[in-house]
Amino acid sequence: MRAQLERDFERFKRGLPRDFAAYVRTAYRIDLTSRYAGETLPHPIGKGSGQLSLNAGQLEEDAAAGLAFVVLKTVIAQDEAGARAMAAWAIHETRMRVERRAASDGRLGWTVTWKGRGWDRTLDEYLALVRVGRDLTRAGALLVVPSVKYHLPRLDEPFRDAEYRHTTLRLAQAWGTPPLLVEKDFSPTLAGDALADDRAQILRWLRDVPGRIRAAAPLPVRVAVKLMNARFDDAFQVEMMQAAAGAGADALVCFNRLFDPERGVAYGGWDLSDRNLRVLEAMVPGTPGLRPGSDSLTPHASAGIPGLTGTGNICSGRMVLEYASRGCESVQLHTFFQLPLSEYPATHGSRTQRALHALVFAPDEGLIATMLALEARGQLERRDGELRFLDVRAHAHRPG
Ligand SMILES: Cc1cc2nc3c(=O)[nH]c(=O)nc-3n(C[C@H](O)[C@H](O)[C@H](O)COP(=O)(O)O)c2cc1C
Repeated sequence: MRAQLERDFERFKRGLPRDFAAYVRTAYRIDLTSRYAGETLPHPIGKGSGQLSLNAGQLEEDAAAGLAFVVLKTVIAQDEAGARAMAAWAIHETRMRVERRAASDGRLGWTVTWKGRGWDRTLDEYLALVRVGRDLTRAGALLVVPSVKYHLPRLDEPFRDAEYRHTTLRLAQAWGTPPLLVEKDFSPTLAGDALADDRAQILRWLRDVPGRIRAAAPLPVRVAVKLMNARFDDAFQVEMMQAAAGAGADALVCFNRLFDPERGVAYGGWDLSDRNLRVLEAMVPGTPGLRPGSDSLTPHASAGIPGLTGTGNICSGRMVLEYASRGCESVQLHTFFQLPLSEYPATHGSRTQRALHALVFAPDEGLIATMLALEARGQLERRDGELRFLDVRAHAHRPG
């Protein structure tokens, strides 16, 4: 299999097989089936919300490349009259810099430096993009998920339900057939804002927001909560996960970028994955794990335990499996889809396609090589002759 992997890696530099997950299953007997917010995916690799999911062209290119899912850029919620409590997040900024960033221990990683925030065009323009995503989703080409930043009040203020209602209603109308999947973004710039100085205030948001989105939706909705890296300790990070799980979130995205208060920018790299993996580890063996939803505002709330989706410094298949072995059912990347072309071993194709080639087929650190290595070490067993990506996670939760 090793020799076959070397050969595939070489020949796929010019292009991946049309359905590479099916190919991996046949050729290696590895089943990459994954999940995002209860939806089954052919493999675990998706694109996180941001500047790489702003238009129809990007979605079509990602579908053609074979990505499993894409989360659209975050739109700022508004009421019927167009008022937006979180308008400060809708600023326009085009300049992005992809650069090296050293972690606190000196390891060099990649980060994207950018001062922008949310979607800076109209809600109608966003809904047009949602409809393109809906069509690709229905065609089975790519799961597309909208992302929203809804109003987050101070402790002594009420939620602006009119913004929740109007934005969710418009999304639901654009999407049509249930369920509507929505990611709620708690962003790093929010973590760096005075609004997020107060722990009780953050916990109230997490306890209330999933139920408010559900109550605002005219059809069944699944809510993925993208948690920020708050400026508090790891224990608080776990408390945030528990609060969102208790409120019936269907999925937790763990965790958005760190915030550098000196430069006033969000960043990634190894400090981000170290922190995220450390916090996720606190949820696995020897801990009670996440509690299912119980404190929700509405009876529709999911009674299950939310699925976890990893994000942060995922630049290899090995890192995908680091997140999986700490409970994640899928992953969403941004930075790795933005590197200079010279950083990818593939010679042809879009950045998404070249990134998938490295993530899946790299003979040293790719998904296939790392799963075979786990098998060789006795850390993953075949069932009915197959190694299964979702078993990596099950393994993580086994006592001992
Ligand atoms: C330029 C840029 C813009 C982003 N914009 C958003 C956004 O609007 N909403 C959101 O939820 N996450 C946003 N993110 C976060 C990414 O989706 C991702 O979770 C994060 O960057 C960590 O993954 P990475 O290390 O692979 O980049 C953005 C990231 C970058 C680099």
